[in-house]
Amino acid sequence: MLKTKLWDIEFKNPVFLAAGVMGETGSALKRMAKNGAGAVCTKSVGIEKKPGHNNPTMVEVEGGFLNAMGLPNPGADEYAGEIERIKDEMKRMNVKIIGSIYGKNDSEFQKAAEIIGNYVDVLELNISCPHAGGGYGSSIGQDPYLCKNVVSAVKDVSDIPVIAKLTPNVTDIKEIANAVVNAGADGIVAINTLGPGMVIDIESGVPILGNRVGGMSGKAVKPIAVKNVYDICSAVDVPVIGVGGITTGADAIEFMMAGASAVQVGTGVYYRGYDIFQKINNEIEEYLLKKDLKMSDIIGIAQK
Ligand code: DOR
Repeated sequence: MLKTKLWDIEFKNPVFLAAGVMGETGSALKRMAKNGAGAVCTKSVGIEKKPGHNNPTMVEVEGGFLNAMGLPNPGADEYAGEIERIKDEMKRMNVKIIGSIYGKNDSEFQKAAEIIGNYVDVLELNISCPHAGGGYGSSIGQDPYLCKNVVSAVKDVSDIPVIAKLTPNVTDIKEIANAVVNAGADGIVAINTLGPGMVIDIESGVPILGNRVGGMSGKAVKPIAVKNVYDICSAVDVPVIGVGGITTGADAIEFMMAGASAVQVGTGVYYRGYDIFQKINNEIEEYLLKKDLKMSDIIGIAQK
């Protein structure tokens, strides 16, 4: 009932692990797979090791979490080993792997794609981190010209689906969606975290994150994410994966009604535990059974 075909890949269900959460090691990815995720996305990896921002890097705040991890990762070659170690078991469980990569220009993205692309089913381009600095993240995702260059460079060296993760921090999300799809993106993930934002501890007068500013995730961003998915789906004709504040089956259904073919869960893992994937799948199924609907009946109905 929940099987989802995107491109020529069949996913056992449409509830995936989002980039950045529980994705730093192969064993963490495997644990999410065992808890019912239809696919798991790695932490974003670049061509070189990156230590990330100073602590604290993730703090629970009103409405969700504020984070500025700073894209910490061991580098693509090293991370490839993590995936290699879990690949067979992921195949046995029929859980697909999405490799998230970042870079500061098309050639860095291309190199990371050449390494990670050999180990995963889908490549996700992180062009949307709101606080990465250094030319990474949303400084690419806010510029349709840079988006186009990065997507076409990765497409040139990839024979698996390439999806772009977009930032909500833009004036015209449809323009960005069109730019990545015209450059050959096979799908879109929306949204990365909102911001950057800041929370200040009023006892010390100091911003709570080591990086001072960071991206907002969790329940507070859900309406923004739903609207972005809705707008993107009205503009382009590729599969869209919704992400942003999803903790329940009802949340996932809302994203599907906006047009998403699948969803990703990030911060939700902290609210409902590792088995959140199984829980959301059960809740979607219950809803569909109660209403006597199929998933294809609800995808995009809010567009009508
Ligand atoms: O909010 C985010 N934090 N989005 C990203 O894309 C990267 C991450 C980080 O590592 O800081």
